[in-house]
Amino acid sequence: MSIKEIIRQFKPEHHNLLNIMHALQNSNPGNYLTKEALEETASYLGLTKASVYGVATYYTMFSLEPRGRYIIRVCISPVCEIIKAETIIKHLEKVLGIKTGQTSSDRLFTLELSECLGQCHKAPSMMINDRVHNCLDKNSIEEIIEEYRQMSKSD
Ligand code: FES
Repeated sequence: MSIKEIIRQFKPEHHNLLNIMHALQNSNPGNYLTKEALEETASYLGLTKASVYGVATYYTMFSLEPRGRYIIRVCISPVCEIIKAETIIKHLEKVLGIKTGQTSSDRLFTLELSECLGQCHKAPSMMINDRVHNCLDKNSIEEIIEEYRQMSKSD
């Protein structure tokens, strides 16, 4: 589907801005918002380019740079932090061979941090795209990453 077709699935109303941006980002294999996508959105909604860029840069869930196919967001809010979120992040960095904020060389994974995912009772937690993973430890992290690697081969 083209950028225009994606945008036109929504009514040209300002309150649809975030939904349009999510749809555009999700449809891009690089998991990011292109300059063209943001400018088309601004034009369609009758907003200035500056205001659309402002929204895109305000929310951490949006990226203006190409990212991996799978976006890993590790919760660093208090409950997860107490239950060793730092250990989880360090282990993910080791398994993926990247630092937080980076994308793996095979362009499969981007590692990011997140506020509370609403899973405090099963901390520590992370999301990979739209899927939540809880009660993390070193072993489960390795299994989860391997599962996504295998999934990417079968798609
Ligand atoms: S503090 Fe991590 S899920 Fe709530």
